[in-house]
Amino acid sequence: MRSLMPQTPSLHWLGKQLFNRDDPAGFFDPLLEQLNPMWIRQYTPARVEAVVTETADTKTFVLRPASRWTGFEAGQHVTLGLEINGVRRHRTFSLSSTPAQWSRSGTVTLTIKRLPGGLVTNWMHDELAAGDILSLGNAFGDFRVPADDEPALYIAGGSGITPILSQLETLASRERSAPVTLLYFVRSQADIIGAERLYTLRQRWPEFALTIVTGDGPQPVHLDDSHLMAIPGLAQRRCYLCGPGGLMTLAQTLLNARGVDDERIEQTFFAPPTVAIDSQGGRVHFSKSDVRIQSTDDTALLDLAESARLSPRHGCRMGICHQCSCRKTSGTVVNRLTGQPSGPGEETIQLCISVPRGEVEIQL
Ligand code: FES
Repeated sequence: MRSLMPQTPSLHWLGKQLFNRDDPAGFFDPLLEQLNPMWIRQYTPARVEAVVTETADTKTFVLRPASRWTGFEAGQHVTLGLEINGVRRHRTFSLSSTPAQWSRSGTVTLTIKRLPGGLVTNWMHDELAAGDILSLGNAFGDFRVPADDEPALYIAGGSGITPILSQLETLASRERSAPVTLLYFVRSQADIIGAERLYTLRQRWPEFALTIVTGDGPQPVHLDDSHLMAIPGLAQRRCYLCGPGGLMTLAQTLLNARGVDDERIEQTFFAPPTVAIDSQGGRVHFSKSDVRIQSTDDTALLDLAESARLSPRHGCRMGICHQCSCRKTSGTVVNRLTGQPSGPGEETIQLCISVPRGEVEIQL
């Protein structure tokens, strides 16, 4: 059994954990990990049960989290933690299975597309195997299924289908008569993710209408007004968008023009920060734990803290959920999303998107 959770730390670190009042649960983890990685208390460990190929660049990972994992609602996301070549990495993905499957079998699935140049997704595709153990955060996100009497329209592009698969199967299992339509845009037939699940839904769920729009080459296919014109009662529908940013923006514009106001539009997506950060790193003092760490690049404070074996609270790791908010008592940090530097004084910052510049002190 290969554990991709943090490696056994030093006695020095163990001593610090003993006196770290924020993290009593994790103290015995190094010992427990030697006995059975699934007993670790600091994270929720999850064992890879199976890896299933969906398309040429997409795989589904079937995970069995330890029983204390708190579950999820259809459409939510989780952050995975794993160690690649000795460096701890985290990424957030949508759950593609249903809460009913979790209750029934104790397993969940993540359906993940290989991203060009993506360190974690490529590693998962090439290396992650049944029996490996990684860590799973609690589910989060407010992309939730419509009320039972509410008609709905889903618009998905590419791997944006994953949280929608979970929602559609959840809706199909309920006694509801409101219509649901899915418009799914993919480059080609071979790129359809969850094809069998979608066709099964269409067969056994009379209120479900499925339109898959495919191209025949590398060029993306586009949503246009004719797709929306064909949907009965569009203005009364709750609309769900998930896919590339361009598709979501276009869908919102076309829906607004057809009388669907923003209050009826739900959307979700994750995108890594793209702004180039002007920082050579700095010296960070995590004052409550009295841990000091030197950074020489644009690594965010959350990653720095974790590399020093601290365990700050966090969720999305993308500046969305604010669970990692923390007090900076002095020094300057640069926001990864905007590229803007903070002031030098005391303020609340988000650890996951803050990069230190020079000497920084954080109350952690
Ligand atoms: S972890 Fe969600 S905002 Fe930082």
